[in-house]
Amino acid sequence: MIECKNGLFHLKNRAFSYLFRVTRYGLLEQVHFGAPVDSADAEALACQPGLGWGGSLLLNGLDTGSCSDAIPLAWSGSGRGDFRESPLELDGRPTEFCYVNHRVLKEQPAMACGLPLAHGGSETLEITLAQPGAKLYLYFTLFETALTRRAVLENEGQTPLELRKFMSFCLDLPGDYAMTTFDGGWIAEMGRHTAPVAGSRVVSESTTGFSSHRHNPGFLLHESDAGEDHGRVYGFNLIYSGNHYASAQRSLQGLTRVMQGISPANFRKTLAPGEKFETPEAVLCHSDAGFGGLSARMHRFVNDHIIPEYWRGRERPVLYNSWEGCMFDFDQRKLLDLAKRAKELGCELFVLDDGWFGARNNDKAGLGDYNVNLKKLPNGLEGLAERIRKLGLEFGLWFEPESVNEDSDLYRAHPDWALHNEGFSDIPGRNQLLLDLTKPEVRDYIVENVSRILDSAGISYVKWDMNRHSVALGARAHDHILGLYDILRRIFGPRPQILLESCSSGGNRFDLGMLCFGPQVWCSDNTDPISRLDIQGNLSYLYPQSTFGAHVSAAPHAQTLRNTPLTTRGNVSFFGLLGYELDLKHLVSVEIQEIKAQTELYKKYRRVFQFGTFRRLKNGWQVSEGPVTIAGVFHKLVDAAPAYEQLRLKGLDRSKRYLLRTRAQKIRVGQFAGLLKHVAPVDLNPNGAVLRTADKIYALEDGVEGYHVTGGALMSGITLLPLFRGTGYDANQRTQGDFGSNVYVVEEE
Ligand code: GLA
Repeated sequence: MIECKNGLFHLKNRAFSYLFRVTRYGLLEQVHFGAPVDSADAEALACQPGLGWGGSLLLNGLDTGSCSDAIPLAWSGSGRGDFRESPLELDGRPTEFCYVNHRVLKEQPAMACGLPLAHGGSETLEITLAQPGAKLYLYFTLFETALTRRAVLENEGQTPLELRKFMSFCLDLPGDYAMTTFDGGWIAEMGRHTAPVAGSRVVSESTTGFSSHRHNPGFLLHESDAGEDHGRVYGFNLIYSGNHYASAQRSLQGLTRVMQGISPANFRKTLAPGEKFETPEAVLCHSDAGFGGLSARMHRFVNDHIIPEYWRGRERPVLYNSWEGCMFDFDQRKLLDLAKRAKELGCELFVLDDGWFGARNNDKAGLGDYNVNLKKLPNGLEGLAERIRKLGLEFGLWFEPESVNEDSDLYRAHPDWALHNEGFSDIPGRNQLLLDLTKPEVRDYIVENVSRILDSAGISYVKWDMNRHSVALGARAHDHILGLYDILRRIFGPRPQILLESCSSGGNRFDLGMLCFGPQVWCSDNTDPISRLDIQGNLSYLYPQSTFGAHVSAAPHAQTLRNTPLTTRGNVSFFGLLGYELDLKHLVSVEIQEIKAQTELYKKYRRVFQFGTFRRLKNGWQVSEGPVTIAGVFHKLVDAAPAYEQLRLKGLDRSKRYLLRTRAQKIRVGQFAGLLKHVAPVDLNPNGAVLRTADKIYALEDGVEGYHVTGGALMSGITLLPLFRGTGYDANQRTQGDFGSNVYVVEEE
């Protein structure tokens, strides 16, 4: 609920309290953001500036405590004595917006500009502030586990107002914090980096035109000794897919100022008299129960209030994607053969990736054209889709609508539809340019063509890709993103049942803006399970596993050359949205059996895997829903003579009894090569036909465990079967070697 009394505003629920008040100078003083408190606690929670600090500029010379630089604020000005970073910059003029009035709204007002908003908030507080010639509206919306904030500026003067920087929120928190950001690049998304926040500003910013894999918009601010289950952690994110900026800086007074919004780099907006500008909505979340506590709150918020309502809690199909298996080299016969095999393995949706249109036989041509390649697909998409559906699979399709190859009919007809740096040569990326989505005719072209194709072939899933950064957007970057949202809304608004998975060379646009239109994102082109432990594991700080496209691909892996067991590739992908993306025709019998077992287990526990409460463990992950908990234990490089290892689960009922069982998984005998001679009665040639044949059809049991045990014991930590110690094979050990893993299913008895 939202309480407003005598200038004190209190947004509270069972998870947190957010308190601020109007000072006698009309500024918004930030009083508390943390565990639930009482409004009457405000005085005790507030910072008392007393006689103030030397060297201060005072709003009132008679009041030593009136230095805006030393007060925690919920919005700050500039050029008026607060020398900390300001969330708003106009054309060099000072800003000092003061409280005018407020309203509590049952529903958050829609964005006139078309930016997406979180849905289903309980109440919204609108605070109106003003300074001569301009009004500022701040919106605070309350959800069960998070709060959102955004701002709107209105030019009330007679002359244009130039906006150079406008953040979605700004906030001062007393205390010392570290900032954790998620940074990387192609096939190396979501590296987790922590920096102490002290006197210098710590910044995370994207300037590529999009939210980017360089710096994910989501970040954490936390006590430096916070752990997975203890300590204070704040999480922030932006419902936006364009250039973003976030910063944190500690003042002399020990107040950490944090803000987030559109990146000010190359940002310019001129507001005509009467015109308004709306910032994207930001998400603010708190937990005193460590990173795990924070993630649980963020996951709930994203699952319940970000992803499109049609897909809320709706189970996703196990898919097969043609890309890694075929790339551009396919025809209908090959696709149908793959589809048949995928169906036998337990897949439910067949996705045709790149290469189905125009002259798209490599990445140099065809982007922008929407005519189906009839040489590859003589019966058209419709004919292919029909045949796929006959096999018992749904049909999905890849698009990359925002880009154009210069070698395409579209570019030849409309070179001016692409973005160019005027006066400079073009800098293509993956041989392509971006289309200018600020042009209505470009948006219409995309909407008409994509919609036509979707409707023509009963397509139930779309992979929406975007494979380049932009240098040509400049000050148009924000309008370009608004153009993208307009396109997505027009295509998918009337077709909510189409499952939209967004992709940008993998996770180059993994953000809450895209998740408002489609419930899942392709995390990375890197499907190596060991890399995925980091990529999916780090995504899990801010995003629920129901948003992770996670596929099993071939080994050695195309991006890392790492050879990992098929079991581990499956075990890691279970903790996301399982799919398969490899050539299926070379699978041998033991691999087919293993994949069938994987899809069977995943479908049986699909709800738990996709929507269960996700927790990070010391040596793996767990998901729980109702009476079922499933844990994955993963290894990178093994030690010789490894120590006993414990599995320590979280969140169970101590007094209840559970049955724990290992997922039945097999060990390929071929991996032992010449070592087999120690156990085999005959001398085996490690490269010979006998071993190769045996490896295709025969596999060994691995680490089979089963216990009836209390929740108390499982949370205290049970000792798992030992790992291989160089003493021979035994089904009662985990014979795994490097990159091994197991999955444990734990069910209430
Ligand atoms: C990008 C995507 C891949 C695949 C290719 C197709 O790289 O991330 O998954 O769709 O494009 O060209």
